[in-house]
Amino acid sequence: MSYELINGNTFEVLEGLPEVEDPGADWDDGGGVHAIVTDPPYGVIEFAEENVEKMREGIGGVWRIPPSMDGNQRNPLPRFTVLDDDDKRMLQDFFAKFGELAYDVLRPGGHIFIASTQLLMHYVSAGFDAAGLERRDVLVRETKTLRGGDRPKGAHDHPEYKNVSSMPRVYWEPWLLYRKPYEGKLTDTLDEWQTGGLRRESDERPFTDLLQDGKTPKQEREITKNANPKSDDPHPNVKPQSLMRELCHAALPLQEGVILDPFMGSGATIGAAEALSYDSVGIELDESYYDMAENAIPKFASMSTSIDDREDVKRHQAAEESTSLSDFQKQ
Ligand SMILES: C[S@@+](CC[C@H](N)C(=O)[O-])C[C@H]1O[C@@H](n2cnc3c(N)ncnc32)[C@H](O)[C@@H]1O
Repeated sequence: MSYELINGNTFEVLEGLPEVEDPGADWDDGGGVHAIVTDPPYGVIEFAEENVEKMREGIGGVWRIPPSMDGNQRNPLPRFTVLDDDDKRMLQDFFAKFGELAYDVLRPGGHIFIASTQLLMHYVSAGFDAAGLERRDVLVRETKTLRGGDRPKGAHDHPEYKNVSSMPRVYWEPWLLYRKPYEGKLTDTLDEWQTGGLRRESDERPFTDLLQDGKTPKQEREITKNANPKSDDPHPNVKPQSLMRELCHAALPLQEGVILDPFMGSGATIGAAEALSYDSVGIELDESYYDMAENAIPKFASMSTSIDDREDVKRHQAAEESTSLSDFQKQ
């Protein structure tokens, strides 16, 4: 296996899986996955069919379409301040159900890295806590966004409001880190399930919860734009390869196992796993984003980032290459 892509609804796909009980079995036959690394629809409604249609037509709705700047088209941005009580109830149900399914598909000790937003991350946490998952940290991805920082509406007519903004300008993105509990010692769990811990960046440095320099390079957005078979729109939420490789690297403590992205989008997680020579599974509901991911993943995977220069990463890649070569020679 290298990667497997599924065009479907994550909730239906995960519901159909057998119980995780055999560390030697395939991921979808009782083996489960070693980690989940994902960037879900934060507010859920922004990826409801009617809102995706509006975004594609440039109409807006929950999506704010920022004006282009210096001739550069900027990405649509979902506005989470417009969610009403019903939307929030739906969001809570979504993450409560997803927490249960994530618990069921993970091996004991498996980690979940899930992106969120300051305004809504408590709903994700509530669902995950209720599902019995263990909260471990909130990772900080440094990234300057266009959220918040606006002056009150009509402030240009009121000089006294000139120095007021309603919310801080958002310069970081939270990634919740959860783990499925295991029984006994970490070393036994590593031994039996290859899970429980996080891989260190190197001998000298552990994985840390500050993820610096997290901006998505323009070139990576362009990859999704060129991979879109239906139009030349990029995916609105492409995550950078450097970030996704950092997370995928941390997610497999022994560099063995399967990473699942249940909300794959354009396939940035799968591209990152592939670049590290890890097995992965991506699930995407929207057909055109699924097609986009199929085209974009090999391009993401072939990009180079600073993480690829780490001794740990190079050693693993070399070992994987020599295994696949010897398998080939045996045939
Ligand atoms: C925030 S985007 C992920 C973007 C991705 N990180 C990337 O770099 O391209 C979330 C994705 O989840 C998909 N999605 C929403 N609900 C889903 C569901 N129930 N099952 C599978 N995919 C879903 C959306 O279509 C969207 O592409």
